[in-house]
Amino acid sequence: MPDSMELTGLDISPSGGGVGAFVNDIDLRTVEAAEAAAIRLALGRHGVLFFRDQELDPDAQIAFARKIGEININRFFKPTDTHPEVATVLKEPDQKNNIGGGWHTDHSYDEEPALGSILVAVETPPYGGDTLFASTCAAWETLSDGMKKMLSGLRAVHSSRHVFGKEAADANAEIQAEHYGNAGAATQDSVHPVVIRHPISGRPSLYVNPGFTLRFDGWTDAESKPMLDYLYAHVAKPEHTYRFQWQPGSVAFWDNRASWHYALNDYHGHRRLMHRITLEGEALAA
Ligand code: SIN
Repeated sequence: MPDSMELTGLDISPSGGGVGAFVNDIDLRTVEAAEAAAIRLALGRHGVLFFRDQELDPDAQIAFARKIGEININRFFKPTDTHPEVATVLKEPDQKNNIGGGWHTDHSYDEEPALGSILVAVETPPYGGDTLFASTCAAWETLSDGMKKMLSGLRAVHSSRHVFGKEAADANAEIQAEHYGNAGAATQDSVHPVVIRHPISGRPSLYVNPGFTLRFDGWTDAESKPMLDYLYAHVAKPEHTYRFQWQPGSVAFWDNRASWHYALNDYHGHRRLMHRITLEGEALAA
């Protein structure tokens, strides 16, 4: 979708891929209310916004986040020592697993899924560690009319238990010990429409994801799997995606209701540290 200075007051260049846009000539430390409103609008429209060369320490990241919305303190991620609002997304040189190393959208297991996250690159590896994004709005648009009709009345069940819960902690002790905590709090299942109306842009968006969706509501897992697998492969098609290369000071702000993301784990032996703030969202409707 084309953008212009008149629409948002921001200098925006589409990423050139299937999702996302760069916001140029902006210092996120000094954003004012009108710019914050424009950023929110642009986020809904593009699914992910990228910013380069920012200087967001945790206080500045919190201040920027609060201009956009209310902060959600993620109950599973480890926070920084000093700022509970800021989660660390860290992989040490000796770790094998990373956080977010598969396609997902965050918090779909919640009744009111988080709007999205603001991720700041603090330390980047010498190579690799890119993040892939995919547009769930573009994915919806490129389905056939017949498939759209079939999906339109459906709802899907999402869960946190198999990722953050005790079962997962037992099955994969390394990732749980190093990255997450609070496994006892992973009790959430929730049901959302498979096609949501995006709360900001009003565009339809395909709201299922390989990370947290279990099945279609009222269907068995076995019945759901072939169709979910089809939809997952469809969303992840290259034409719906963009691969973002981080540099220190880069920021990505994604909208969970319009995009998926996937943190590549291809930099073993090196450290990658990101600071993440998540924003509260709302109940999703068809
Ligand atoms: C995440 O899934 O929140 C992590 C994304 C990243 O580290 O690039």
